[in-house]
Amino acid sequence: MRLPELYLVTSNEGKWREVRRELEGTAEVKWLRRKYPEIQTGDLKEVLAFGLPHLYRELLKEGFPPSPLFADDSGLFIDALGGFPGVYSSFVERTIGLRGILKLMEGVEERGAEFRCVIGLLLPGEGGSYRMEFFQGSSRGVISTEERGYDGFGYDPIFVPFCDNPEGLTFAEMSTEEKNRRSHRGEALREMRKYIIRELHKHLSASVRQNLNTEAQMKRNEEE
Ligand code: IMP
Repeated sequence: MRLPELYLVTSNEGKWREVRRELEGTAEVKWLRRKYPEIQTGDLKEVLAFGLPHLYRELLKEGFPPSPLFADDSGLFIDALGGFPGVYSSFVERTIGLRGILKLMEGVEERGAEFRCVIGLLLPGEGGSYRMEFFQGSSRGVISTEERGYDGFGYDPIFVPFCDNPEGLTFAEMSTEEKNRRSHRGEALREMRKYIIRELHKHLSASVRQNLNTEAQMKRNEEE
């Protein structure tokens, strides 16, 4: 079966690895290493609702064929810090880093935290129009007292998810597959996968059927 082609917009190789793995067999995912403008807002969804269409219009101007694009915006929300770093996760990672977060959490007993992820999928329509779909996922856990593990990226070495994790491993101590099974991104991607199967596979098979009908009609015309 022909799979729908979707472009993942990210400069983060870790995200690319996780997304490709989770959508294997559902969509043909291509990596578009481009940036989109990220507005300052407390809402992850708004970042994508503004940023992706902006990039889409830019791509059309550059002559890129209208194609489905998707991106994810994620953040780590720590209970004891009132949800910080949250929408500032990127900036905080680049500035005070994981060490800085561990320092802020020194002596704190209540270490609950949540990773949240929103995926925005932009689907092109006629004449430069488009529509957007959103998929969400979250993962609850705790902030560890030290960094552990070398896999994954970002805050993975200090986040211990609750879900099916009796050994108390951090995301960075898990394989991509193990992380996906428990992560905010994995959950959002599984929602998106259901949508792709329900909407895009149906649409594709309808267009494949139409092509086959047209080919059969052309053959009949030739024979007459
Ligand atoms: P963004 O979604 O690329 O804007 O990421 C925001 C921040 O959260 C960056 O500092 C990322 O490294 C971090 N981040 C996003 N997703 C994850 C994840 O799955 N694990 C660890 N850190 C993440």
